Amino acid sequence: MSLLGTANTPSDPPTAPGHQRSELVQSLQGVSGSMSCASQGCHGRYESLVDQVFLRSEATIWFERDPHNQAYEVLKSDRSRQIAENLNGPGKPAHLDSRCLACHANPQVAKYAEAKQDEIWKDSSLAKELDLASSRGTGVGCESCHTLPGHSTFEYLQRHTVLGPTGIGMEAWKSPESLRLKQLAGLANLAPAKNTAALCVSCHVGNPGSATEPIRDCNHDIMAAGHPRLVFDAASHINQLPAHWNTKREKDPDGRNAALHVAGLMISAGMQVRMATAHARNMGGIWPEFSDQDCFSCHAGLGASTDSWRQRNWLANKSGGQIKPGGFVPCNATISIVASLSEKPEMKSAVEAWSKAVSNANKANTAIIGETILHELQKLEVETSAIERLSMDKRHAWLARVAGPSAIALDEGRWDQAESHLRTLFWLSRGASNAPAPESFATAFSALAYPKGFAGPAGFRGPDRAGSFDSLAKWARKLAVN
Ligand code: HEC
Ligand code: HEC
Ligand code: HEC
Ligand code: HEC
Repeated sequence: MSLLGTANTPSDPPTAPGHQRSELVQSLQGVSGSMSCASQGCHGRYESLVDQVFLRSEATIWFERDPHNQAYEVLKSDRSRQIAENLNGPGKPAHLDSRCLACHANPQVAKYAEAKQDEIWKDSSLAKELDLASSRGTGVGCESCHTLPGHSTFEYLQRHTVLGPTGIGMEAWKSPESLRLKQLAGLANLAPAKNTAALCVSCHVGNPGSATEPIRDCNHDIMAAGHPRLVFDAASHINQLPAHWNTKREKDPDGRNAALHVAGLMISAGMQVRMATAHARNMGGIWPEFSDQDCFSCHAGLGASTDSWRQRNWLANKSGGQIKPGGFVPCNATISIVASLSEKPEMKSAVEAWSKAVSNANKANTAIIGETILHELQKLEVETSAIERLSMDKRHAWLARVAGPSAIALDEGRWDQAESHLRTLFWLSRGASNAPAPESFATAFSALAYPKGFAGPAGFRGPDRAGSFDSLAKWARKLAVN
């Protein structure tokens, strides 16, 4: 049953007094803001309750240290002013542009702005109302991550803070009904790794949008105007956040991180395909959209052919003949890793055909073959949908599947391929007795780092980098043979 289709059922949560639910969801009034979760009696304790299920200091941690608390403010910085001016000309600032709000503000505000963009540019009182709602929503605050799209947090707060038989306040946390009630009231269940990954991917990779979600497309126009390139790995990104959840409760961090990493790969792969399909169907009005391609295939020097991985690989036919010299080079590192993990011939051939379609900027084939990949991905996701942790056996099995392609990727020296494979090797081998020492990974990752002052890997030539990848490539090759 669709959560959105249940508006009038008796179990449906009450809305704020005087409002119809649909009105709240489509208006700026439905945004509560992180402050409404942050009182001391709720999630704003000063000290964390590490021996209990919930820290209750979630908001304190978030307001103090989480990078998301700056997500909206950053749209008013000099850098954003410059990006918006490059994109829009004068008078159309980033903090009123729905394309930026999509990832930098509360999704409900962004969806509202998307529908009313033309009016917002003209009507200063509407612009002010929007700014107030974004500020109240505190950028990417609690609601951006914990409220399901298409819901207003008021529904949840009403139930959560009201004790009693229909409430999901303190006592009902313990009831088996709790999860169902919370979701009915619009609270996301982030326990399965897949759900967490899907949440992050939606902003850190993109999202073609829906009736309830804004279009999130950090396309080449936005990047060329000055936006940093988005690179995402669920396990690394989660570990980079100051945890406002109880990490002491986690008995198997290696298994959890591996599950997050693999779920992140699958969801990112699906999202890249969906984005390319949406571009092929005219989202953004540009085709081919350069952000579907490998950045460094175009942004590389005009060096001698001995310096060119493209010419080298083409001559050695390493890229499977998909890419001809001078053709577009699709950004397919993640998708190829997922194809290796799936081990299904259908997936492998679909990924090859899709890469070719994107490389040739073939609109129809990009969309049609994209559907096949999404279909195969869905089967793979069903297999792993409820997984919260990956067992050591499963990690071993998947490591063996990806090791051969990883060894090739490390030898090839394409930045994106090397970066993605290294991360997968890293997260799947944690805790294994034959895992390479952390130092080998550290050396390899430092070879991928951007030089100071560059937003890209200037002069990156993987294998030439003083053998930084050699020991890992050797280990991967050995794994693949065994
Ligand atoms: C698809 C989502 C998405 C869209 C669309 C988007 N951003 Fe971002 N933006 C991000 C993410 C994610 C980061 C953090 C990147 C990182 O460091 O990994 C970011 C970072 C930034 C930064 C750098 C912040 C810092 O602390 O260094 C600026 C400035 C910025 N965005 C402005 C904009 C502007 C202006 C727009 C609209 C033209 C925009 N963004 C559109 C997701 C997005
Ligand atoms: C960028 C997304 C994001 C934002 C913003 C965010 N959270 Fe979370 N929150 C998460 C994730 C991810 C988890 C961990 C889920 C897991 O591993 O079970 C989590 C866990 C929690 C938990 C514990 C749930 C559990 O089952 O362990 C609470 C409570 C919570 N968040 C409250 C808040 C509050 C309050 C705010 C705002 C001040 C907030 N969160 C902001 C993503 C976010
Ligand atoms: C609603 C959009 C949105 C969602 C959902 C989201 N993020 Fe972000 N995230 C951003 C934006 C925008 C920034 C940049 C903020 C800035 O620099 O001011 C960011 C920044 C970050 C950063 C800091 C990056 C850096 O290079 O400094 C990390 C880490 C991060 N996010 C992790 C996550 C994780 C993990 C999740 C999922 C649990 C997640 N985010 C979900 C929008 C989002
Ligand atoms: C198909 C080729 C192609 C691909 C792929 C491509 N770009 Fe570009 N990019 C260009 C061209 C052409 C320009 C305009 C060059 C100029 O004006 O100097 C440009 C400009 C830029 C600029 C502005 C540079 C400047 O000097 O102002 C940035 C930043 C940028 N691209 C980032 C990226 C990122 C990040 C990716 C990958 C997600 C990417 N590009 C993928 C062709 C490409």
